[in-house]
Amino acid sequence: MSTAIHKKVEVLLQQMTLKEKIGQMVQYNASWDLTGPAPSETSGALPYKELEEGVVGSLLNAISVKDIRKAQQITLEHHRLKIPLIFGYDVIHGYKTMFPIPLGESASWDLEAIEASARVAATEAAAAGLNWTFAPMVDVGRDARWGRVMEGAGEDPYLGSLVAAARIRGFQGDDLSATDTIAACAKHFAAYGYAEGGREYNSTDISDNVLHNVVLPPFKACVDAGVATVMNGFNDLNGTPVTASSYLQRDLLKGAWGFEGFVVSDWASIAELVMHGRATDKAEAAVLAANAGSDMDMEGYCYSEHLAEKVQVGEVDMAKIDDAVRRILTVKYKLGLFDDPYKYCNEKREQALLLSDEHLAIARDVARKSIVLLKNEGDILPLKKSGQKIAVIGPLAACKDVPLGSWRAQAITDSAVSLWEGIQTLVGENAKHAKGCDLGIGNRAFILELTINEDDVSKIPEAVELAKNSDVVVLAVGEDCWQSGEARSRVDIGFAGVQQQLMEAVVAANPNVVLVLMNGRPMPLAWADAYIPAIVETWHLGSEAGNAIADVLFGDYNPSGKLPMSFPRHQGQIPLYYSRKQTGRGESVAPSVFWSHYIDEQNDALYPFGHGLSYTTFEYGDIQLNTSEMSMEGSLKASITIKNTGERAGKEVVQLYIRDLIASETRPIKELKGFQLIKLDAGASETVHFELTAKDLAFYNSMTKTWGAEAGKFELFIGSSSREVQMVGFELR
Ligand code: NOJ
Repeated sequence: MSTAIHKKVEVLLQQMTLKEKIGQMVQYNASWDLTGPAPSETSGALPYKELEEGVVGSLLNAISVKDIRKAQQITLEHHRLKIPLIFGYDVIHGYKTMFPIPLGESASWDLEAIEASARVAATEAAAAGLNWTFAPMVDVGRDARWGRVMEGAGEDPYLGSLVAAARIRGFQGDDLSATDTIAACAKHFAAYGYAEGGREYNSTDISDNVLHNVVLPPFKACVDAGVATVMNGFNDLNGTPVTASSYLQRDLLKGAWGFEGFVVSDWASIAELVMHGRATDKAEAAVLAANAGSDMDMEGYCYSEHLAEKVQVGEVDMAKIDDAVRRILTVKYKLGLFDDPYKYCNEKREQALLLSDEHLAIARDVARKSIVLLKNEGDILPLKKSGQKIAVIGPLAACKDVPLGSWRAQAITDSAVSLWEGIQTLVGENAKHAKGCDLGIGNRAFILELTINEDDVSKIPEAVELAKNSDVVVLAVGEDCWQSGEARSRVDIGFAGVQQQLMEAVVAANPNVVLVLMNGRPMPLAWADAYIPAIVETWHLGSEAGNAIADVLFGDYNPSGKLPMSFPRHQGQIPLYYSRKQTGRGESVAPSVFWSHYIDEQNDALYPFGHGLSYTTFEYGDIQLNTSEMSMEGSLKASITIKNTGERAGKEVVQLYIRDLIASETRPIKELKGFQLIKLDAGASETVHFELTAKDLAFYNSMTKTWGAEAGKFELFIGSSSREVQMVGFELR
């Protein structure tokens, strides 16, 4: 922190009353948008009285320059010390120009593209008056039933860490006070992604081994990348709701990791300590959370109503309050809000920048990079722009809304380029459309009832007829965007409604099918894999979805995405991830029945982590190591030559994994430790180099509670996915 800011904060702190200090620790919902269960007395109104009293530190969900200026004005006109508000909002995958959902964007493995996307989101949000986004969500997601896997970077902590850092660079830039940067927020600290049964808001119970080796590394990466804020979460972790966890917030985050920003609670997560059975009432909840290091109370009314009195009776130390306020004021200073509280409030900028052509072009580029070609039997793809009759079928084919995704901020309803529009732009009359069926969910935005499966098959015959009379069918199915995201856990992650029936009828009429999936989570695709020659995973790609997908379908863009989450054969395999443990009874015990397996399905993923094809082919040479014995202080250099053996230029994500064969605590069968995205012209080759040190081989030992690498034998794998790899051994001494 700069000494100038430090001094200013100290001077201000000296002048503040206890009431004013606690005011800074309070965040209210401004109710232009609703992202949580607002108590009825506050819904739909600005907290005028509190703003005038100067006892509000922040608002969330205030939208537009006009309204943000209004709220800031009320505060500053009345506030004795003129402390500006900080305005937060969930800018998760774009503000007005929508980008692919974060899970999709992570499938690009393209850190520059991911940074560029966050940069645009920050530029638009800042132009609309905002200062702070509640992103990135860095929860590792290994349970596809959990709807929020769409909001993270998938199942792997290494990829997740790099993606998180890229997004923070994009949001925050290198100067938080610039008018096109906003503060980022790493969330949800911690282990929210491990909700039991994949059920949203559920409890989490995980070992120290998983917590430190899998869950925490992306958060640590955020702190190292200079993230301005962290959000805790709703979940109970091993008996302590994380909002009340001193271990996480004080010992680790602010202690061992040296985090200098502030911690905001999740929506009412302080008040929910009562429901958890951890606090008797909101007053006790305030004490627990403040003592544990939750600096700001989002919409929980615990700090505003009870914290002052609890400080006065000595249940919370003044030093802790000062620490929280210091952190909050520091972020406000860094954002430049004290110099000019209205610096983000400029209607002209807002008008010029939101949904600009430049932003849409970047959105299209990132969307293309996020598409994963899962299967392409017989090179059915790319399609021809002429000389082919193309049927465009499916409930999502002409949909202009679902591709916008579930955390759509201020996106305009129905504003995405649909797949049908994208295809028509390229091939005009050569394509024809039939919907085939609806998506099979009822009330879209708020699915409150379970009556989501509808059984109307009346539109299928028309689609079948069209399929019969076409050379090839592009079949767009998947999930509504409101079937994933917050509060959208599913027990059945398959195709809702009559989509399966539609697929079967179309394939029977014309087997030349390209399945285009739009979804927010891995889906079980065993049937599709068995009967459909080409499958393209497009997630929910944002404003330019249809153009981006058409670019890929017709070969204007050669796909290079790789899955950031394993796709199961059957949903009964969940949680499913490549980085699993070997168990005491692995494949080697087969064919005896007494090994770790299912009797009715294979163990492995249908499409594993890291999988993704291209329209060209890549040949991997042999792995070369500079040594087969690496010292604790030294390094190991691995290289491999990759050749583009196909007929067009393409990109490949070259992935490096390791396995620690014998250790004092069991280690996964593979762990990603490096990757490189390379571009090769047809016929060209490139040698890719990796370097590992003992730090890359280190793990957290839950008995000794320390990080370190252990001497012994390792395996090193390089390949095109977590499955398609070559292996060489080496030893760490
Ligand atoms: C609850 C969500 O869990 C969190 O991620 C989000 O930022 C807040 N609501 C605010 O909308």
